[in-house]
Amino acid sequence: MCGIVGYTGERECAGILVNALKKLEYRGYDSAGIAVFDGDRLSTVKAKGKISEGLEPRLAALPRFTATAGIGHTRWATHGEPSDINSHPIGNGRVSIVHNGIIENYRRIKEFLTEHGYGFESETDTEAVAKLLDYNYNGDPLDAIIKTVAELEGAYALGIIFREHKNRIFAVRKASPLIVGQGDGEMFIGSDVTAIIEHTKNYYLLEQGEIADITKDGVTFYDVHRNVIQKELQQADWDASAAEICGFPHFMLKEITEQPSALKKTLAPRIKDGMPDFSECGLTDEMLKNYHHIYIIGCGSAMHAGIVGKYIIEGLARTPVIVDMASEFKYRNPLLTKDDLVVIISQSGETADTKEALNLANKVGADTLAIVNVVGSSIAREAKMVMYTLAGPEISVCSTKAYTVQTAFMYLLAFKVAYARGTISEEEVKQLTKELMEIPDKVQICIDKQEQYQKVASRLMSADSLLYIGRGLDYALSMEGSLKLKEISYIHSESYAAGELKHGTISLIEEGVPVIAVATQQELFAKTASNVKEVKSRGATVIFICTENMPSLGGDVDYEVLLPAARDILMPLVAVVPLQLIAYYTAVLRNCDVDRPRNLAKSVTVE
Ligand code: G6P
Repeated sequence: MCGIVGYTGERECAGILVNALKKLEYRGYDSAGIAVFDGDRLSTVKAKGKISEGLEPRLAALPRFTATAGIGHTRWATHGEPSDINSHPIGNGRVSIVHNGIIENYRRIKEFLTEHGYGFESETDTEAVAKLLDYNYNGDPLDAIIKTVAELEGAYALGIIFREHKNRIFAVRKASPLIVGQGDGEMFIGSDVTAIIEHTKNYYLLEQGEIADITKDGVTFYDVHRNVIQKELQQADWDASAAEICGFPHFMLKEITEQPSALKKTLAPRIKDGMPDFSECGLTDEMLKNYHHIYIIGCGSAMHAGIVGKYIIEGLARTPVIVDMASEFKYRNPLLTKDDLVVIISQSGETADTKEALNLANKVGADTLAIVNVVGSSIAREAKMVMYTLAGPEISVCSTKAYTVQTAFMYLLAFKVAYARGTISEEEVKQLTKELMEIPDKVQICIDKQEQYQKVASRLMSADSLLYIGRGLDYALSMEGSLKLKEISYIHSESYAAGELKHGTISLIEEGVPVIAVATQQELFAKTASNVKEVKSRGATVIFICTENMPSLGGDVDYEVLLPAARDILMPLVAVVPLQLIAYYTAVLRNCDVDRPRNLAKSVTVE
């Protein structure tokens, strides 16, 4: 949610900043801007809209900047509508800042500054920080930053430049993420590694409350008492091409096609002698045997992976699992105790609601296990145990490969809990694990059948609204299918437990309303087939997604998508692929901005 970048070095910085911002555009694309050291001045260029439509043309119309240091921002609006004036960088000519997060006490700060003669132009919370920095500045930038952050409540990652301290960039953070990249004779800041990876793999993770003072030759870190801190240089284990589009029309399609390899990469190192192995995080069978409850918490697709997890863990291990949306968890005063395990799922590891849920679980003293994609992210660092999904960077706002590897992790966990609790034998676990490792090939088979998803998409593209139905695991999965479709194609859709439909929702069915029915569970097939009949006889256009070994429903369906068969409990990993691709092609046909759907951001760092 908002991306920030900075560069200081010997090269002209405007292009470097704009390219870095493009890499972070998935964090927000309401507006973008840069501020650079331009002779004796700080020059700012910013514009509403996506970078290619706003900032880039505006920069192109200006004489070229020769500046070699500056900061940049791509915005997901929180305070103040998307507009030029509310765009970052924000400052007053003496100081300029970029901000990711929300300052909760900005009104009070504004009032105080207004009384001291400051005027405000924007509706942003950020302007209060910029002006407070100016107020506190007496020639010593570090002193101004320390005094200013002491007044701030809320979340922030800030990139700061002062006109009088040419080519020097300062950064500080609380709650929102920030890294400092180290190149050869040049330094960077970025909200995440994606912003800098084309220049360097080496970076420092800025911790809460730390301040970075950066010149082209290096960085000095301070705590809020001005003590110098030594920090360890980290190295990203992926390279720039992983975050490039590589000839695909959209990142979403690229990431869907990466799922077989992401699954193999995530699963293989966690299987030893045919059994799931969690030794890297210290989660033992003894611990799993003793937990009273397992909570699984996440937002969006991560939470949907957790719902699949609930079905399979409860089914195999006969252990109660509670799935919570992170945004609800903290505020519903959950009956959590120190005898419980809390599994936190997050691609970014920075989602504010999910972090809050983790904080609560840590406070209660429950064991916390984070399943996270971004190495070194806040959630990964704050949980007691962490296991990384190894999906590589996910750029498209709409999550695909991250969901799949999170779900794959749910299987490993389910097998492990079931074995620890003695509800399944070692042989059964080994057999299940072996079949899980066969899933990537089945995913590939689904990916290779793109034409049929395009046909389905052409039937859906003019719908105003549609329903996804399924039972059991198919219901859990259809939630994800429905979310994919609505978030990128803007067609209203709901997922419903197929059996629940007749308790109200079926009244929405009329001639031509599309219903996507998922039926991969043998045991529930006949029941779902009856529900399909019910909607068909009321005029629905039925798209039926089932395994190839199931009986045909003949005239009850308008289009059938056949999936390679796997054991029922493993089918969500296979069946998700057509759901992703149907959503993708529908959005493409409707000319939607697939990778950057309106109003959304990939990393949601505000509650
Ligand atoms: C945003 C993204 C979703 C994602 C959710 C949780 O809403 O658009 O795709 O599932 O956040 O993100 P996380 O990084 O915690 O998995």
